Amino acid sequence: MAGSVAESVAESVAVRGSKAPSGDAAPGLLARQGALHLIGAVLDRGAMLDEAGLPGSPAERAEARGLADLTLRRLGQIDDLLGRFVGRMPKPPVDHVLRLMAAELIFAGTAPHAAVDLGVRLVKRARGAAKLAGLVNAVGRRLAEQGAEIAAGQDAARLNTPGWLWQQLAADWGAEAARAMALAHLTPAPHDLTPNDLKLTNPAEAGALARELGAELLATGSLRLADRPQISALAGFAEGAWWAQDAAAALPARLIPGLRGKRVLDLCAAPGGKTMQLAAAGARVTALDLSAGRMARLGENLVRTGLAAECVAADALEWVPEEAPFDAILLDAPCSATGTIRRHPDLPRRRGRGRKGPDLKALTGLQGRLLDRAAGWLAPGGVLVFCTCSLNRAEGEDQARRFLARSPGFERLPVEPGEAGIPAGFLTPEGDLRTRPDFWAERGGIDGFFAARFRRKS
Ligand SMILES: C[S@@+](CC[C@H](N)C(=O)[O-])C[C@H]1O[C@@H](n2cnc3c(N)ncnc32)[C@H](O)[C@@H]1O
Repeated sequence: MAGSVAESVAESVAVRGSKAPSGDAAPGLLARQGALHLIGAVLDRGAMLDEAGLPGSPAERAEARGLADLTLRRLGQIDDLLGRFVGRMPKPPVDHVLRLMAAELIFAGTAPHAAVDLGVRLVKRARGAAKLAGLVNAVGRRLAEQGAEIAAGQDAARLNTPGWLWQQLAADWGAEAARAMALAHLTPAPHDLTPNDLKLTNPAEAGALARELGAELLATGSLRLADRPQISALAGFAEGAWWAQDAAAALPARLIPGLRGKRVLDLCAAPGGKTMQLAAAGARVTALDLSAGRMARLGENLVRTGLAAECVAADALEWVPEEAPFDAILLDAPCSATGTIRRHPDLPRRRGRGRKGPDLKALTGLQGRLLDRAAGWLAPGGVLVFCTCSLNRAEGEDQARRFLARSPGFERLPVEPGEAGIPAGFLTPEGDLRTRPDFWAERGGIDGFFAARFRRKS
């Protein structure tokens, strides 16, 4: 076991003896310890769900991640269930042991005796909590007996959606749509890949790549995998034949026409999904992001895919381009990221979200300032695409409307149905792109995204 996360796993569940659990550990225990660490990191410390650095084999880390993912996705139902059996929730990490055990018993299909046994072992290893092993055992048995029936009668959509998010979704889209989105959040997103156009000598090769990977080639050009394999083990990863990117996230870059040879600014670029699309389509790309760490990942992605871009780590609010204007600009602005909850069930549950959720006033203010700055760097006739992975109209439709109202030099360039394979159902009456997680339900859904395309008139 090496590294700070591994050490803090040991710390958070206080593994006795050596840091690495020895061979006498029950099968699956290490993965549960990892899951427990991840749940605590999100709920108690406001961290992102990230299994990198957990102890154990790749399979154990993946299992830990899967269990933490499930626990957080179903947290509302789980806490409601536990509330029926536990007078007052014990302190961390025992509360998280109960949550994890409930997730296993009710939603993961783990055999009841194994789930309860693992829960008891976890609590016995937690510092100062061994005395609560009896409580965990008793709650586990009652959950095994009655939990599934109670869960079947719960309002899963409502319970698993924090109040602030439910209110936002209902206010923006109506109660029925809010419920449909909340239900979509209960299912993990499929893995989508974007083929590296640079490596495809003709469009038919995307179909061949899809067949090789056992994937569906979507009308929009993304490849959708049938299951959830380890991405880095798939054919073509090392050669950079594709990169992981949700089908919705791949759409905004496709809205810039005629990229070959154009000078394009990718603003807020890291970790580089859209930079790679622009570069693979033949654009001369300047990729800028505030985060040096995320820019380092963008650099690694470019190396793996054999693509090139000028990389700048800077604050877009202060940076001044050496050479302006650009022929086109893509602004993938920082946002509440509520469109990605299927992929990141930790997002609405991170400690610090509070009762109100993300600070929309701050985010929309920043998005507006970034838009105005980008607008000043665009050549006449040039295209500016503004996008966010938010389900909130304030970060999408309203932002676009306000930008046009204060920018007489710009006009909307509506997206046409069928353009870039985009179905009419993904377009607003104004011609902006709007996807939601309940769209494409028969295909496994799609992340929530908004994109508006503007042209500089003069
Ligand atoms: C939605 S993410 C970008 C995702 C990226 N476009 C992609 O496709 O992989 C938003 C990015 O905005 C960056 N960001 C936030 N504030 C910024 C600022 N003032 N200047 C530049 N980048 C900023 C964040 O570091 C983050 O990487």
